[in-house]
Amino acid sequence: MLEGKNINLRIMEKEDLPLWAEWVNNLEIYGEYLPLRQRSKTDLEKQYDKSPPEAKRFFIEKKDGTKVGGIIHFPVGELLEIGFALIPSEKGKGYCSEATMIIVDYLFLSRDIVRIQAYTDVRNVASQKVLEKAGFKREGVIRKSMFIRGEWRDRYLYSILREEWKEPKILTQTTSQS
Ligand SMILES: CC(C)(COP(=O)(O)OP(=O)(O)OC[C@H]1O[C@@H](n2cnc3c(N)ncnc32)[C@H](O)[C@@H]1OP(=O)(O)O)[C@@H](O)C(=O)NCCC(=O)NCCS
Repeated sequence: MLEGKNINLRIMEKEDLPLWAEWVNNLEIYGEYLPLRQRSKTDLEKQYDKSPPEAKRFFIEKKDGTKVGGIIHFPVGELLEIGFALIPSEKGKGYCSEATMIIVDYLFLSRDIVRIQAYTDVRNVASQKVLEKAGFKREGVIRKSMFIRGEWRDRYLYSILREEWKEPKILTQTTSQS
């Protein structure tokens, strides 16, 4: 488990897939800026089984263990990308900003990488704030790069380089608690 101040990140196990399936198929959780795709538990199980080591999903948990969202990292060619979402009732409390700082600390501390990237719909101001608070910089607009709710949308590409990160912001310890 990756321990933060107000939340922890707990790696998702195979037995957590039913909850994950519930969330990824819930349009209120995915929000209006992510693709409208429904995925069966079987599809998610297959995806889980063939995921490379560089692709991991974490639950964002409050300190009492309540699961409030998810954050993932996955490879894109030789690069690593992240993505996140929260359940609607827990938005606006700073949880995703903290989760993003933790995953950035974790990835730079655990891997010899120079860059982490993320895409966000140009209208998704909350997501852009989360990334900027965690030290990501906007690189540019990737035009008509995702089909969302019937339209090809422009997205911003963000990244943080190792030299911009410099040192851990939040992650102080990991535990094997389950
Ligand atoms: C994007 C998302 C993860 C943000 O999570 P969160 O925990 O609410 O974010 P935080 O509370 O850490 O910070 C959000 C910031 O955006 C601001 N914000 C929230 N909604 C906003 C809006 N509609 N317009 C402008 N700013 C907004 C908050 O005030 C806060 O800014 P502040 O720290 O300066 O006060 C959440 O809104 C979500 O799950 N959205 C649906 C899924 C999604 O879009 N994922 C991102 C895909 S790239």
